[in-house]
Amino acid sequence: MRKKIVAGNWKMNKSLADGLLLVDEIIRGSHNNSVLKIIAPAFIHLAAVAEKLKKEEGFEIAAQNCHQSQNGAFTGEVSAEMIASAGAQYVIIGHSERRIYFGENNGLLAQKVNIALTNNLIPIFCLGESREDRNANVHLEKVKQQLKEGLFNLSPSDFSKVIIAYEPVWAIGTGVTATTHQAQGMHHFIRSEVNRKYGKDISEETLLLYGGSCNADNAKELFACLDVDGGLIGGASLKAAEFNSIVNSFG
Ligand code: PGA
Repeated sequence: MRKKIVAGNWKMNKSLADGLLLVDEIIRGSHNNSVLKIIAPAFIHLAAVAEKLKKEEGFEIAAQNCHQSQNGAFTGEVSAEMIASAGAQYVIIGHSERRIYFGENNGLLAQKVNIALTNNLIPIFCLGESREDRNANVHLEKVKQQLKEGLFNLSPSDFSKVIIAYEPVWAIGTGVTATTHQAQGMHHFIRSEVNRKYGKDISEETLLLYGGSCNADNAKELFACLDVDGGLIGGASLKAAEFNSIVNSFG
């Protein structure tokens, strides 16, 4: 049975005090230990959030990005080793905001995935098509290419550690969610591509999250899709009640 996961990507939001308050509220309202909750605050808050969640059951920590090198003269950057040493177990790689605003391409992201795994971090690898791609009906091709160039150079044992988040760019922060048909269709496609590359056993264990305007109102039907194993939540993860209600959306 695949794990159920709800990950909150706080992006560039919350002061340290507000972030810690949010964590407190989430803990207070959290009663569903069958779901793994992953909190992804800003780098600078990782250690404090990790410390707060250390003794809480069912919570883990993610960074939102990492540099592709082990260490070195890269002023202002943060390494996978630093992230792990701050108490995180996961790192989000290839979020569309990194791809769009910071020019991160699949080749670079493959390096980031490698360095994350080298430092025992589990990559949450994001992929997804733009509105133009979907309108032009090339969304499957686009995602196939992101998979191939970003992940399919991994050995089977490394690949099986990775979590994939399908986030159609047109759904992120827009209030427009993929329909269950669209989400399930793409998740099924991703799982069948993983099957073609790595075989049935690995593909059936691969964790696939949906992201893009997922909220307390639509999580239930999205999470009910056969190939959707949870969500990567942006805006709706910034309010404890909403985040917890998403966690409770699993049937
Ligand atoms: P959203 O963001 O839930 O605000 O659409 C999702 C994401 O970017 O991970």
